[in-house]
Amino acid sequence: MNRPKPGRILPSEITPEAVHQDRRRLLATLGYAGVGLALGGATAARAARTGPVPTVTRNAKFVARETPNSWDDITSYNNFYEFGLDKADPKENAQDFRTQPWAVEIAGECDAPGKLTLEDILKPHALEERIYRFRCVEAWSMVVPWMGFSLADLLTRFKPNSRAKYVEFTTLLDPRQMPGQRRAVLEWPYVEGLRIDEAMHPLSFVAVGLYGRWLPNQNGAPLRLVLPWKYGFKGIKSIVRIRFTERQPRNSWNIAAPDEYGFYANVNPAVDHPRWSQAKERRLGGSLFTARVDTLPFNGYGEEVASLYRGMDLRKYF
Ligand code: MTE
Repeated sequence: MNRPKPGRILPSEITPEAVHQDRRRLLATLGYAGVGLALGGATAARAARTGPVPTVTRNAKFVARETPNSWDDITSYNNFYEFGLDKADPKENAQDFRTQPWAVEIAGECDAPGKLTLEDILKPHALEERIYRFRCVEAWSMVVPWMGFSLADLLTRFKPNSRAKYVEFTTLLDPRQMPGQRRAVLEWPYVEGLRIDEAMHPLSFVAVGLYGRWLPNQNGAPLRLVLPWKYGFKGIKSIVRIRFTERQPRNSWNIAAPDEYGFYANVNPAVDHPRWSQAKERRLGGSLFTARVDTLPFNGYGEEVASLYRGMDLRKYF
């Protein structure tokens, strides 16, 4: 598990991460951390999309203080059941997954539905880098320098109407390309949902890359959600459909095990998973995990998001 096959990692894949870390260190030393950082120029050798890596500016408002995990950590230890159940399976089995061409259907309660190519989706958005903490429901965590844009900026383009109380997201259904979908481990396709105010929150992010490069397939190419105050399973990958709804959408893990996984899935150290505690987490680091540390309410983003849930019983709405 978590061991790359010999010869699979090219030096060119390792360099951007090392360079990135060096720049971070340099900027931190100079007291510049958070200033816009151009990472353009290189080509993403084995990333899902080809062509030049766009210029990325770090958004100083969204920079976790912890050191990001390495490229290797983030791209070798994944949950993407469409490509297998083990953490090493997605990297192994998603290499040939085709993400070009890609289209996303926009449907439901909005005034501008339709079908957009990925290029149409990307065009108006300046890509930015955000360094977010990421907490998996399995009680491990990491810190990821995502590249993408605000989910609210994307959703407002489709002019949701007053009946749009929720947003549903759907992953591609293609058992020929996604071997995991040939087995009934989950109900396919993978679906997720957010309340509209959660979706429009400034922290909600559409990731199309990490470490200044296009997303590798195993991390959800070509576009996936990142919601840093929620458990990782809300971060649906390889999205092909966005639908505005009046009713609360279903979500895959809640369908599979309703007693274990809720709709909200806010990180909450006070509410245990029925089979394990959520009070602590292990930070992924190299081939081993580091020591357990306390999990923070809303994964440390409580100041920003707690007001979304004022008056709600978070034991009931877990
Ligand atoms: N999206 C799809 N389509 N299928 C999945 O199995 N797994 C989820 C989420 N998104 C999953 C998914 C879970 S459980 C987690 S923890 C994160 O993706 C993992 O993201 P990562 O592999 O980039 O760390």
